[in-house]
Amino acid sequence: MHPERKVLVAGNWKMHHTHLEAIRLVQTLGFALERMDLRHVEVSAHPPFTSIRSVQTVVDGDDLPISLGAQTCHFEDLGAFTGEVSPVMLAKLGVRYVITGHSERRAMCGETDEIVQAKLKAVYRNHMVPVLCVGESGAERARGLTEERLSEQLGSALAVLNAEQIASLVVAYEPIWAIGTGENASLKDAEEAASFIRSVVAGNAGAAAAGSVRVLYGGSATDENAAELLGGDDVDGLLVGGASLDPDRFARIVERAVEAVKERGSASS
Ligand code: PGA
Repeated sequence: MHPERKVLVAGNWKMHHTHLEAIRLVQTLGFALERMDLRHVEVSAHPPFTSIRSVQTVVDGDDLPISLGAQTCHFEDLGAFTGEVSPVMLAKLGVRYVITGHSERRAMCGETDEIVQAKLKAVYRNHMVPVLCVGESGAERARGLTEERLSEQLGSALAVLNAEQIASLVVAYEPIWAIGTGENASLKDAEEAASFIRSVVAGNAGAAAAGSVRVLYGGSATDENAAELLGGDDVDGLLVGGASLDPDRFARIVERAVEAVKERGSASS
């Protein structure tokens, strides 16, 4: 992490928690967060669509330090798209971050790089910020294709965004082999990928954009490995799946991020 980039700890709940469970989770999480110094750490929660309204009510009502997130959205603002949710609707609810191009959606819902491009534009058009997921499969890593895969996914995304949009973008490096497997990337692997992502951004949009884009790591991040994963220069936060489902556990991850920021501050002063 870098002192000028605000750390982001994002909880991707995937298809977990009814709206009632979501309310309980966010109340407990909010209580834990209120005791922390969150000046340099931002926390976001990405519930399923059915829970966003409930979570928003608790967050607004109790003034909790949690940014509202979504897990995807449609690329059109409105129309005959049965079952889909529009970015306009999310923006109206106060959603700030929208996960875009998660590998589960790429694999299970046929989300191609072209669809991801359209979604990125839709998210920005509605004044929200995408959390763009990129990452290689285990087979690609074994064949030494990690950087190629990251360049393809990222290059395609950056091609449809302007420099200002790119500067505010959040990219999550999510190696597919690490998602939900309990096998997280090492600090070295995560930092190498994050630094590579920054170099691709620099090549497309210049050094200033590369310096301000936030790069998260995601894939079996937990309260036990968070401190290590946040110990380098280029990883600016975590996208947490399984370990975000328990509010106490997720709060411990946020606590590790707060400590990492403090350590970084004392090391640089
Ligand atoms: P995980 O999921 O933390 O359960 O591995 C991360 C993600 O898919 O965003």
